[in-house]
Amino acid sequence: MLVCDCNDVNYENIKKAVAEFGTDLETIKDETSAGTACECCLEEDCDRVELALPLAIKKAKEELGI
Ligand code: FES
Repeated sequence: MLVCDCNDVNYENIKKAVAEFGTDLETIKDETSAGTACECCLEEDCDRVELALPLAIKKAKEELGI
């Protein structure tokens, strides 16, 4: 699932980063580069991606049980 089009970041990349670094948005941006270009994917209704970054972090948090 594509999370950031500009930097080609997918959901698995986000899930791994959340498992390692936690759910802080700025930390996940720094670690994955998601959301650091056009910033569309920071908005939940971004039409460039399948799962916007805040939603991807939330999903990873739920799946990881953290
Ligand atoms: S789609 Fe993520 S920064 Fe552009």
